[in-house]
Amino acid sequence: MFIDCSGKELFILKKIANASTELGMAAYLIGGFVRDKIIGRPTKDADIVCIGDGILLAEKVADRFSPRPNVAFFKNFGTAQLKADDLEIEFVGARKESYSYDSRKPAVEPGTIEDDQNRRDFTINALAISLNKEDYGQLIDPFDGIGDIERKIIRTPLDPLQTFSDDPLRMMRAIRFAAQLGFNIEENTFKAIKEDRDRIKIVSQERITDELNKILLSKKPSIGFDLLYKSGLLHLIFPQLVNLTGAEYIDGKGHKDNFYHTLQVLNNISINTKDLWLRWAALLHDIGKPATKRFEEGHGWTFHGHEVVGARMVPKIFNKLKLPQNEKMKFVQKLVELHLRPISLTKENITDSAVRRLLFDAGEDIDALMLLCNADITSKNKQKVKKYLSNFELVKKRMEEVEEMDKIRNWQPPITGEIIMETFNITPGRSVGLIKDAIREAILDGVIPNNYSAAYEFMLLKGRELRLDPVIKI
Ligand code: CTP
Repeated sequence: MFIDCSGKELFILKKIANASTELGMAAYLIGGFVRDKIIGRPTKDADIVCIGDGILLAEKVADRFSPRPNVAFFKNFGTAQLKADDLEIEFVGARKESYSYDSRKPAVEPGTIEDDQNRRDFTINALAISLNKEDYGQLIDPFDGIGDIERKIIRTPLDPLQTFSDDPLRMMRAIRFAAQLGFNIEENTFKAIKEDRDRIKIVSQERITDELNKILLSKKPSIGFDLLYKSGLLHLIFPQLVNLTGAEYIDGKGHKDNFYHTLQVLNNISINTKDLWLRWAALLHDIGKPATKRFEEGHGWTFHGHEVVGARMVPKIFNKLKLPQNEKMKFVQKLVELHLRPISLTKENITDSAVRRLLFDAGEDIDALMLLCNADITSKNKQKVKKYLSNFELVKKRMEEVEEMDKIRNWQPPITGEIIMETFNITPGRSVGLIKDAIREAILDGVIPNNYSAAYEFMLLKGRELRLDPVIKI
């Protein structure tokens, strides 16, 4: 076998080979499984192409296992899937495809293994391994995919304009593979993406966003976003990020290029987290900057309130990109809004009340916020970075001390709305909210200690100010 497979995988491949021999059909292992095995990436999806009916082959393969796995098939596409061990195997008959200009849906007719390899997106994805008796385990590599893996190159097997025109999602896939594998996109292939970029419009938002998420989850996501920008695709699929590019100068004073700063922050955070939503927060943390940019005489460039404006932009962006409108979105929104808070603490005296307030506002997301804030410290000036990082460590230490003392994290003030209503015999309304807020603020500001009896006394005081009398219980 040309590729390195585990004993279990070899056992499964042998069963597929035997079933196809019995049916008199040729069969091949093809695509991502072969690519990933050669590169040495873990993979759990195997694609089998056969010269004949893929569904029939899948059924015959299933017969050879005990217990017999379930075969899920899609008659319209002529594909079938089954799970053997933890390998997801998909079967399909080899095909020749022809596309019409305005659709990703091809006209399909049966073809040879060469036809099938021709219609694939990249040379590294067109590698096949024979499962046939006469040449079992041999590699079939008509486009030098192996050479491209060695040279770390993404290249289309045929004319790239044809390959991308057939299926414009492949432009996103090229960039995604470049980011995931750390490969370069071959010059003509990249030129074709630039030329054909407008065709991305016929691709569904879900598929585009799926690729964006894969880029975000890659080891160094900046590679993908930089290529999206340089190809012109980003202008079409994510114009808000393009608005971050460039540095303007007035009176010799400039500001940093917020796009490349954002990519640096994204790379920084990716070293410390694999969490997709925290990476989204890094990507969007400065998204409000273009809308808030001002030049102040004698002072320079400012972006006042960009964190609030940015947080407000998050739901719209999530909606457009068809990302979930749930607590994940709220998490990203919250982090964008709070991203300056830890670092702004380092510029003033780090008072207990400021630390308590930050702990309260961030709640259970404080660790994520601190990761984002740490990743946000980028500057060409090494001295500056050093100073920020040491101040940042100080804030972290102070947070631990305050948390140890006051247990503010995931904290709820000791006096609830029910207690207030019961004490003053009032129904829900403005006064309840006023008293509740006043108690919370007093504790966070350190005016009263964080315990029930101090909060109760404070409630009575506030009640009196609002001309409320406590009900005397007999
Ligand atoms: N393919 C293609 N054009 C596409 C999508 C897929 O030519 N737009 C082909 C490629 O040969 C690819 C195979 O179908 O290797 C399987 O596709 P898929 O499972 O989507 O991709 P993988 O290459 O396996 O990679 P990943 O699972 O990371 O998406």
